[in-house]
Amino acid sequence: MSEQQHTSTASRPEAVIAARDLTKRYGKTSVVDAINFDIAKGEVFGLLGPNGAGKTTTILMMLGLTEISAGRVGVLGFDPARQPLQVKRRVGYLPDAVGFYDHLTAVENLAYAAKLMGLGMAERSRRIAAALTRVRLVDVADKRVATFSRGMRQRLGLAEIIVKRAEIAILDEPTSGLDPQATIEFLDLIRELKAEGVTVLLSSHMLDQVQRVCDRVALFRAGKIAMMGSVAELSVQVLGAGFVVEVEADGAGIARRLAAIPGVGNVETLADDRFRMTADRDVRADAARAVVAANGALRRLSVDEPSLEAIYAHYFQATPSGGVRDAA
Ligand SMILES: Nc1ncnc2c1ncn2[C@@H]1O[C@H](COP(=O)(O)OP(=O)(O)OP(=O)(O)O)[C@@H](O)[C@H]1O
Ligand SMILES: [Mg+2]
Repeated sequence: MSEQQHTSTASRPEAVIAARDLTKRYGKTSVVDAINFDIAKGEVFGLLGPNGAGKTTTILMMLGLTEISAGRVGVLGFDPARQPLQVKRRVGYLPDAVGFYDHLTAVENLAYAAKLMGLGMAERSRRIAAALTRVRLVDVADKRVATFSRGMRQRLGLAEIIVKRAEIAILDEPTSGLDPQATIEFLDLIRELKAEGVTVLLSSHMLDQVQRVCDRVALFRAGKIAMMGSVAELSVQVLGAGFVVEVEADGAGIARRLAAIPGVGNVETLADDRFRMTADRDVRADAARAVVAANGALRRLSVDEPSLEAIYAHYFQATPSGGVRDAA
C-alpha cells in the first residue's frame, strides 16, 4: 500500500484520504464512477448531492464495508479493501441510522464499544466520562438508549468516535432529522473535533449547514464529482463571483478606487454614495482602506457570502441532465 501511495504523484503528502478513479458498479451501472479526491488532515470535507448520487456508497468503500469495483482509496495509508481492520481501528463511523443496544444505557453502550476497542477498564471509564461531557449527555448517561431522541443518539454516536480517539470521523447525514437547535449543537461538536486535528468527512443534503462547517465540498452527481472546492471557489466557478460587497461611502473617485482592488470584478453605482461590487474574495478590509484613501467617510459595509444553495440550484438548472463530464 505504501508503495502505491509513493507511486501516486497526484497524492498530496498530507492527504489522509486519497481516492483514485474509485468506482463502484452494480451490474453495468457505475453508481460511483472513477472519482478522485484528496482530503487533508484536519479538514472538514462535505459530500453533497441528491439521493442516489453515490455518497453513501463512497463512504462504504472507504470503510471496507462494500467491495471496490475499480480504482482505489487510501485511508491513513491503508487500503480498506485489504486492511479493513486497520482502517476501522482508526476511523470513526456514524452511519445514517446509528445502531445502539436500546435496552442498555448510554454508558453501557459506550463501555461495550470501548471493550471491543480493547481498552482496559480504568481507561474505558475515563474516556467515556470525558466523551459524555463533551457531547453533553452526562445527565442521561444512565438512561436506556431506547428513551433517546434522534439528536441524543447522534450525539452518543459522536461520543463513541471520541472514546475511540478516531483520527478520521466519517458521518453519513449526521444532522438529518435534527431540529435547528440540535443541528447547531452538532455542528459545534464537529468544529471541536476539527480543532483537535480530527479529519471529518460528512455527507448531507442540508446545504446551508454544510456551508457553515465544511472547508471544502464535493458535489456529487450521478456517481461523479461534478465540482469540488471551497464554497467561495465553487461560487466563482458557477455564479461567476464569490462575494457581493455593498459599500455606502463618499469620497473622491470612490468607484474607481473600489474597482482597482484586486479580486473585485464589477462595481455597480447604486447611488452617488452607494456601490455594489462582486469579488472573488472577502474584500471588506480593502474597501475600507479605499474609502480612507479617498478621504471619504464610510457609512456602511456589508458582505454577502456565497450561498451553497444558490450555487447548487444554479448548477443543476444550468446542466439539468448528464453534463457532468465537462463540468469538473
Ligand atoms: N446494494 C445495492 N445494489 C444495487 N444498487 C445499489 C445498492 N446500494 C446502492 N445502490 C445504488 O447506488 C446508487 C447510489 O446510492 P447511494 O446510497 O450511494 O446514494 P446516496 O448519495 O448516499 O443517496 P442518499 O442521499 O439517498 O443517501 C443508487 O442508485 C442506489 O440505488
Ligand atoms: Mg446516502
